[in-house]
Amino acid sequence: MTLQGRRVLVAISGGIAAYKCVELVRRLKDRQAQVRVLMTKAAQSFVGPLTFQAVSGEPVHTELLDPAAELGMGHIELARWAEFLLVAPTTANQMAHFALGVADDLLSTVWLAHAGQKIIAPAMNQQMWQAPAVQRNAALLQSDHVQIWGPGHGEQACGDVGPGRMLEPAELLNRLETLCFGKDLDGVRVVVTAGPTRERLDPVRYLSNFSSGKMGYALAQAFAQRGADVHLVSGPVQLSTPMGVHRIDVESALEMHTAVMSLALTADIFIATAAVADFRVDKMAQQKLKKNGAPGLMLNLVTNPDILADVAALEGTKRPFVVGFAAETEHLHQYGREKLERKRLDMIACNDVSVAGLGFGSDRNALLLLWNDGSCYLPEADKDQLAHQLVDHIIEKRQLGVQH
Ligand code: PMT
Repeated sequence: MTLQGRRVLVAISGGIAAYKCVELVRRLKDRQAQVRVLMTKAAQSFVGPLTFQAVSGEPVHTELLDPAAELGMGHIELARWAEFLLVAPTTANQMAHFALGVADDLLSTVWLAHAGQKIIAPAMNQQMWQAPAVQRNAALLQSDHVQIWGPGHGEQACGDVGPGRMLEPAELLNRLETLCFGKDLDGVRVVVTAGPTRERLDPVRYLSNFSSGKMGYALAQAFAQRGADVHLVSGPVQLSTPMGVHRIDVESALEMHTAVMSLALTADIFIATAAVADFRVDKMAQQKLKKNGAPGLMLNLVTNPDILADVAALEGTKRPFVVGFAAETEHLHQYGREKLERKRLDMIACNDVSVAGLGFGSDRNALLLLWNDGSCYLPEADKDQLAHQLVDHIIEKRQLGVQH
């Protein structure tokens, strides 16, 4: 179950983070959710309703006593329409209204009339967030089964540093998606590798590649959203850890190998998305390598262990369902099938990394899935969406007992 067709009411109260909700609404629309927007008076001082009308494609709700709205969708209908009511940003004032049940404007009235899932994304000055009254209200709302997402920690518009930042739109979207998914992988243990490895040449240089980790992180997130117990063994990347995922940071292929082998024996599913360096220098220089007028430099490289092949070679009941990736620039089908067979995998996801805008570093990809007696093409899409499609295929093949 995804966000497609789900009814989300995004209610915006008066905070500087209101502008971030334009991105949130846009992303919800990308996911084909049905989105309506409600704005308080204060919110309209930060962003105009027309902006939200443009991104949501729907009139924006602003008035409690709006004769035009009462003819069609009044506050009760709006509250009934929504499956999810997400208030972002939520001010301290708004929290107090919700906690006490005050109903003196459109948002506070819709809040009381809404019987579905209520979520707030607080955003305020860090001192305000930590004030006893606000914390009391947060505790009251929690006991009323309101989900409180955030706030995040960091630099604030007022110059303070601390807890009080509204969570980023991508994080709010991820959490909304997580609410929608059934937990069909509850109790399943998954190990995912992601990102590049770095092979040090000397104290300041290394060999690596262009992997950003986005494909592997999207997979870890997709598995976690379905209830799996996910361990993400990650090379150096600039991404935040998906909610609920255990992350183990490594740098080199040897470190990744050690981390994976200790987790793989208890894993049900193993997926190797990482772009592992095939080679490392036989001996890292202890000091910075000098040019010293030399015309070039010879590096003596040795082969790294093949992590994927070593997991696939585990015997008997300890062997997880093993999925590899193949980054190819030509003959996708042929090279992918050779890797599937040579490494004794259950499935391989091949991507053509020569296509501009896909694969390495990009938010999008396309995958050719191969298994022993079949194949399936997943056309270009966001990596988040592809990850869920791949998870569906893995679940199906694992249940059917597809083996290398
Ligand atoms: O990280 P992104 O920017 O989102 O980009 C995603 C990606 C292009 C890196 C990803 O989709 C991908 O293709 N990952 C595999 C890259 C790769 O190293 O492919 P390969 O064909 O060289 O390796 C085949 C498989 O063996 C891979 O599953 C790899 O993780 C694994 N391997 C390779 C070498 C090694 N020493 N150990 C391994 O486990």
